[in-house]
Amino acid sequence: MIKTVLVTGGAGYIGSHTTLALLLAGFNVVVLDNLCNASPESLRRVAQLSDREPVFEKGDIRDRALLDKLLAQHPVQAVLHFAGLKSVGESVAYPLRYYDNNVGGTVTLCQAMAAAGVFTLVFSSSATVYGDPATVPITEDQPAGHTTNPYGRSKFMVEQLLGDLAASDPRWRVALLRYFNPVGAHESGLIGEDPHGIPNNLLPYITQVAVGKLPELAVFGNDYQTIDGTGVRDYIHVVDLAQGHLAALKELLTRTGTHVWNLGTGQGYSVLQVVQAFKAASGQPIPYRTVPRRPGDIAACYADPAKAAAELGWSAKRDLFTMMSDSWRWQKMNPDGYRSGND
Ligand code: NAD
Ligand code: WQD
Repeated sequence: MIKTVLVTGGAGYIGSHTTLALLLAGFNVVVLDNLCNASPESLRRVAQLSDREPVFEKGDIRDRALLDKLLAQHPVQAVLHFAGLKSVGESVAYPLRYYDNNVGGTVTLCQAMAAAGVFTLVFSSSATVYGDPATVPITEDQPAGHTTNPYGRSKFMVEQLLGDLAASDPRWRVALLRYFNPVGAHESGLIGEDPHGIPNNLLPYITQVAVGKLPELAVFGNDYQTIDGTGVRDYIHVVDLAQGHLAALKELLTRTGTHVWNLGTGQGYSVLQVVQAFKAASGQPIPYRTVPRRPGDIAACYADPAKAAAELGWSAKRDLFTMMSDSWRWQKMNPDGYRSGND
């Protein structure tokens, strides 16, 4: 039985939703986050929603002494590892930050875990490790590693180092969860995605256009071989994603070694389909203009989620309309993200 978990990056977008799900499921949660891309307000709201307090330590996964202290203070039996940097463009400009934080940070975390006798780890990987897939939907056995940027390479390197680690010592139990495109927010509108500056990702960009913070959406290319020429992705509700982590944690009780699961819905939607769905869910039209393709983008990427369904008993439940209405509720209630303070 796992009772207490360490959640690295637990104040961030996916980490805060997963921390909430863990608390609601009865786990004790210790969050370690350096707040480089998060606000402590997210955890205050998680406590409000769950009526339970996660332990929060502000600090860095690269700080070995801090990790040793945390693992000595709390009876942690498993780690959910979200902490990392995630901006593709920034990773091209500052690759060493990404290798230091994402790869170096994971090495330090694993060293501290092994020293403390904790060998169960759920890692936030990404569909980006598939690069430009030969076929869709993507199964876990499709070749990975042909990534197009330092961020993606850092994720693939971590997958490999965790594989080497698990092969070296049979006590390790590792889940590599390859997320597709997480969107949406908790239905309460109290927690959600809070990007700093101008968003890179489609959904936060759309919601900021809808709320009047940005004038129009730039659609990156309409000449892909897709249903309407715009890029197709597998958008997955962040609350479904959070549930996938609980399912993986449970499954790791029965397995050792490294295991890969896609976390997606299996359904691809184009940019224009998302814009239409957002309008239907929110009543807000989204002015847009087509511009050239964004370098590094691919035409279509969506999961075959059958392995997670069969082995984890998990599948995504929330449809595109729910993803859009929950994103919109979060944006409306928090026009300036956690800085709004109007809960
Ligand atoms: P996020 O930026 O909201 O969350 C990451 C959290 O980690 C932040 O709270 C940040 O403050 C913290 N952090 C970063 N470096 C740290 C360090 N060295 N020590 C301690 N804390 C640190 O991002 P997210 O969208 O919630 O993503 C979570 C994880 O999932 C990341 O590893 C990301 O690469 C991965 N992922 C995200 C997506 C996506 O589209 N959001 C897709 C696939 C994979
Ligand atoms: C989705 C679609 C764009 C913004 C990225 C990372 C990936 C993963 C998830 C972490 C594409 C189009 C977007 C805009 C647009 N993250 N778009 N106008 O590129 O699939 O994946 O986030 O692991 O690694 O690369 O997500 O939301 O940026 O784009 O037309 O202003 O929307 O071209 O087709 P992407 P995205």
